[in-house]
Amino acid sequence: MLHVRMIKAKNPEEVGKIAADQFEALIHSKPACVIGLATGSTPLPLYRELIERERAGKIDFTRVRSANLDEYKGLAPDHPQSYRRFMQENLFDHISIRPENTIVPDGLAEDVDAMCRGYEEKIENWGGVDLQLLGIGHDGHIGFNEPEDHFPVMTHEVALTEMTREANKRFFDSIDEVPTAAFTMGIGTVMAAKKIVMVVTGKDKADILYKSFFGPVTPEVPASILQMHPDVTVIFDEAACSWE
Ligand code: F6R
Repeated sequence: MLHVRMIKAKNPEEVGKIAADQFEALIHSKPACVIGLATGSTPLPLYRELIERERAGKIDFTRVRSANLDEYKGLAPDHPQSYRRFMQENLFDHISIRPENTIVPDGLAEDVDAMCRGYEEKIENWGGVDLQLLGIGHDGHIGFNEPEDHFPVMTHEVALTEMTREANKRFFDSIDEVPTAAFTMGIGTVMAAKKIVMVVTGKDKADILYKSFFGPVTPEVPASILQMHPDVTVIFDEAACSWE
C-alpha cells in the first residue's frame, strides 16, 4: 500500500523551500530534535534556505542534533571531498548548531565495527532520528546503500559501485581519486526514523523516482523500501517527474 506523500514543486529552489518548511515545523515543535542529513547536490537549495531562515530569526539550531547518512572511507574530516567538510561548508558553519551535536561516520576509523556500532548507539542515545533527509542515486541508492540481494540493516562499510563512483567523480580531479568504499547508515537505520523527507530533482532522476515508488519493493532498488515506511514525503521538481 502506497502511503507516501508526493509533493510536486516547480524547480529545485521550490523543493528546497518545501523541505525547509518540514524542518522548520519540526524544530518549532521539538527544539532539541534529531535530524538525519544527506550530502550531494540535491539538498543544497534546502541548506541555503535553512541558513537564510535562521538568519531571519525563523529557526534556531542551537539545540538541534544531527547525524549524517554517510562518509567516504579513507577521507579525513578536513579532506576537501569528505562529507564532514561538505556539511561544514554548506550548512554547519553558517548555523548555530553546536559542533558536538553533529555526527558524521568517521572515514578514518580503524576499528570499523566499533565505529559503526558506536554510530548506531549515539543515535539511539539521542532518542532516534525525528526527521531523516534523503536524496536518491540513479541506481536507487539511499545513503550509500547500493542495490544488493538484501537490505542491510545497520551502519556498515560498503563498496561503491562504478555507477556511483562515476556519478561522484564530478567532485574529484579524476575517477581514480574517488574512494572505492564508504560507511553508511543501514536501511534499518533509515527506516527507524520517525519521519522521512526525500528530495529529488532533475530529469535524470525521473526513471529511478518512478521505479522506487511505483515499482516492486526490492533490494535491487534500495529506495523502494520507503513504500513500507509510515511517514514519507517525497518532494520533487517538474523535471524529476517527466514520466507524467
Ligand atoms: C549522500 C547520499 C546519497 C545522495 C545521492 C544523490 O549523503 O545520501 O545517497 O543522496 O547520491 O546525490 P545527488 O543529490 O548529488 O544527486
